[in-house]
Amino acid sequence: MNRKDLLGLYDLSAEEIEEILCLGLSFKAALRRGEKNFSALKGKSAVILFYENSTRTRTSFELAAKFSGAEVVNISVATSSVQKGETLVDTGKTLDAMKNDVIVIRHPMGGAPKLLAETVKAHVINGGDGMNEHPTQALLDMHLGSIAGLKVAILGDIRHSRVAKSNLYGLTKLGAEVRMFGPKTLLPEGLEREGAIVCRSREEAVEGADAVMGLRIQLERQKAGNFPSLGEYAKYYGADERILSYAKKGALVLHPGPVNRGVELTSSVIDGAQSHIEDQVLSGLAVRMAVLSLLVKEEKA
Ligand code: CP
Repeated sequence: MNRKDLLGLYDLSAEEIEEILCLGLSFKAALRRGEKNFSALKGKSAVILFYENSTRTRTSFELAAKFSGAEVVNISVATSSVQKGETLVDTGKTLDAMKNDVIVIRHPMGGAPKLLAETVKAHVINGGDGMNEHPTQALLDMHLGSIAGLKVAILGDIRHSRVAKSNLYGLTKLGAEVRMFGPKTLLPEGLEREGAIVCRSREEAVEGADAVMGLRIQLERQKAGNFPSLGEYAKYYGADERILSYAKKGALVLHPGPVNRGVELTSSVIDGAQSHIEDQVLSGLAVRMAVLSLLVKEEKA
């Protein structure tokens, strides 16, 4: 990979995605062996700059950078000069002046990481921008072995989901079939143009699928009236054991988290034998280590 920044999977080639996944798999095996000392970012620094809440992405980027040998600083936007009106670009320039090497940013505005990347010398990694992309989430979701030919069903709030969009771009580039289903109000225009098969029912989406992904309802991005109630969303658009029975035997259940139990997935599905959710978290750490080392490696070359 020969890039300064990772902003989304829309721009990445299949070869670049494969390179990240492949390196991520070797990091995952090492993490499973208990190894935590790597050197790709030795002598480098990383700033985690999140303007939105996060548990998984923030923590796993922090651990990924630390395990890779970097010095890591977390900026709490609530107590930073952002509260005094400092712009994103000025914040980035300030971090550049401190000779910082990597910024991982999450921001409610789609395009904010791109704006930052165009302005700063540091490598910028998108940790989720508005309704646009969440590339490292999709990369960890794609840690499923060989992707070509897989059938992946994505259910729920597609419109507001940056996870769904990054998965659509990444999975189709590697040759998977991506089926999508959700309330009509939460299915944006143009999904077919990007390679999705938009289904008329959950059963149609899940039939014969190798993996079934529930999406978190983005309550913070909803306008009123997209669906009648959480109970009805669960009943008509969520996944329970009956819906899962349409999938291939042993199909994996995925969810980016945080999960609204009993809404997107029932508790029995979340905690069941087919749930891959905990393994996704380990993959997240591994692919983030891979992304960090591939971006910074190019700088050293
Ligand atoms: N999947 C995900 O982005 O989770 P967090 O919001 O906890 O980072």
